[in-house]
Amino acid sequence: MKQRIAFLLMAITIFGKQTFSQQNHTLIVKANQPGAAIQPTMWGVFFEDINLGADGGIYAELVKNRSFEFFKPMMGWAVNRKKFVEGEMLVINRSEENTRNPRFLRVTMNNVSKGDLGLTNEGFRGMGIKKGVRYDFSIMYRQPQAHTKLHIELIDSSKNVIGDTVLSLTASGDNWHKAAVSFHARETVMKGKMNIWFEGNGAVDLDMISLFPGDTWKNRPGGMRADMIQLLADMKPGFLRFPGGCIVEGFDLSNRYRWKNTVGPIEERQLIMNRWNIEFPHRAAPDYFQTFGLGFFEYFQLAEDIGAEPLPILNCGMACQFNSAEVVPMQALDPYIQDALDLIEFANGDVNTKWGKVRAEMGHPAPFNLKMMGIGNENWGPQYIERLKAFQTAIKEKYPSIKLICSSGTDPNGERFDYLNGELRRMNADFIDEHYYRKPEFFFQNARRYDNYPRNGSKIFGGEYASHVDKTAGGNRNTWLAAISEAAFMTGLERNADVVQMASYAPLFAHIDGWQWAPDLIWVNNLQSYGTPDYHVQKLFSLNKGSKVVPITLNNDVVAGQDSLYASACIDAATNELIIKVVNASDKPQVNTLQLDGVKRIAATGKLTVMQSELTALNTFDSPTNVAPVESTIAIKGKKIQLNNSPYSFSVLRVKLE
Ligand code: AHR
Repeated sequence: MKQRIAFLLMAITIFGKQTFSQQNHTLIVKANQPGAAIQPTMWGVFFEDINLGADGGIYAELVKNRSFEFFKPMMGWAVNRKKFVEGEMLVINRSEENTRNPRFLRVTMNNVSKGDLGLTNEGFRGMGIKKGVRYDFSIMYRQPQAHTKLHIELIDSSKNVIGDTVLSLTASGDNWHKAAVSFHARETVMKGKMNIWFEGNGAVDLDMISLFPGDTWKNRPGGMRADMIQLLADMKPGFLRFPGGCIVEGFDLSNRYRWKNTVGPIEERQLIMNRWNIEFPHRAAPDYFQTFGLGFFEYFQLAEDIGAEPLPILNCGMACQFNSAEVVPMQALDPYIQDALDLIEFANGDVNTKWGKVRAEMGHPAPFNLKMMGIGNENWGPQYIERLKAFQTAIKEKYPSIKLICSSGTDPNGERFDYLNGELRRMNADFIDEHYYRKPEFFFQNARRYDNYPRNGSKIFGGEYASHVDKTAGGNRNTWLAAISEAAFMTGLERNADVVQMASYAPLFAHIDGWQWAPDLIWVNNLQSYGTPDYHVQKLFSLNKGSKVVPITLNNDVVAGQDSLYASACIDAATNELIIKVVNASDKPQVNTLQLDGVKRIAATGKLTVMQSELTALNTFDSPTNVAPVESTIAIKGKKIQLNNSPYSFSVLRVKLE
């Protein structure tokens, strides 16, 4: 790792023509020459169900395999019985009568009391339990006679009971019933479990065994993990892209994401394997499934909650081309297109339409105001273009104002990219989705990438990007080097806001005990979550978005790598502030004078926010803000501002224009 950093420093120096003394520059800011409008959608987030992002992540359900639908039906569950009794617990499959939720558990009790016969659920890498928090247990059951009592316990890793309650199942007969009970935890533990002890005699059928904390985001029952969502809300993202990523494509077409299976009552949402379950043998996650308790309604609601435009991505009739590469024949593509049309109706349609009614019945009669959707994720080749054209024709005919986001494949250059870029521009695609998972050098070198892009026609969506410092196992970490290289690149995105109208880092979340892919923006365990240095860079850009780009130059050139310096500037019309972002990616301090041209007067002070660190620095659970923004107020005299940019620093300055 050390060697690599040394190499990178050398590389940065070469790219930036760095000298070895302190550098002084004068940057001219033409505040009276507003250029491109910066779209409210400019900086967004991309939520993908990877690294236990949804189940075991933002979806706050604590019970793993609540409905016994995993490939191994008892995965996550242990049976507690001193002596095994054949047939006492049976997984029953009623697939003919209930295709969406076929399995349930039949427990036959033979005069059992608490402690004789029970189940333990291990949660997703354990259950994070918090002292004083309410826990909501619920279950679906049926029994010929009312006779069953459930003793529910939360336990720590030494099996001490840290919260408990009793639930009597009082209904009998052939129909399924729901029962629920709430109780409080007495201790905080990172890796708790839940016991259910049975008391009674005879058979009882159980399904949808669930435990949620009461302190979810907006206190919604069955809701999302509040700490994780708060980190998103704090970014004030312009859009929320969901639900993937590769899970949209699926390993094969049968494994693709189908939004219609993710809405309506949760017990009717048909579970599928998460393709990250099997994607990386070295990071296998055999217990990774999608229960869809977090489905499209919840994603739309989340976008609304955090003030972001929803950006759903739909399968284009092709499975992941790295996996099965299955394609649906063109003559069988209609149902896929219909899914897209129906999704627009689900999001925006009147409550009297078929899908608008589903949305209303789920509790949201008002439309979600969907304005854009993605067709395909990282699909490529003529097969993609052929299918995309069919989607484009049908969607534009019925909903001409819906913008379509189109894939440019997996890489930001190369033959596949060039082919798609040409075809998409010929098709007049609304947005071309470019992805870049590259080394820090790429991000430094590509700060000028969009300076010469066509100004008319298709716009760019930088849908997935992250600086990868070291692709060897375990090396790809969220270091300050990664984050500062992204900051440098993002100044180039901002400068070209007429071309690049949306951008998002990827992936968003990773569970420390359940990740498949690194680096990631936010890391979590069962109780804590923290933003990486990359997170803070994203947040600073988003919170300091501005509304119009203004020129900032060094020797009549854009500031994009000279002496490892990168800069962008914009005006925020709402607050009448000038916002200047400066990255000093060199190992030397720089004194940069900002000369503000075209302003009458400026305030006597400005707000300066700085991130600065060693390139190898990280945030961790123990030191979550090791690399984080530090705010100060600087005094300003006249129209020249002197910025002391320390080595490896990213600074954001806000100055009020008077
Ligand atoms: O973000 C991880 C993966 O990277 C996404 O699923 C995919 O779109 C890309 O290849």
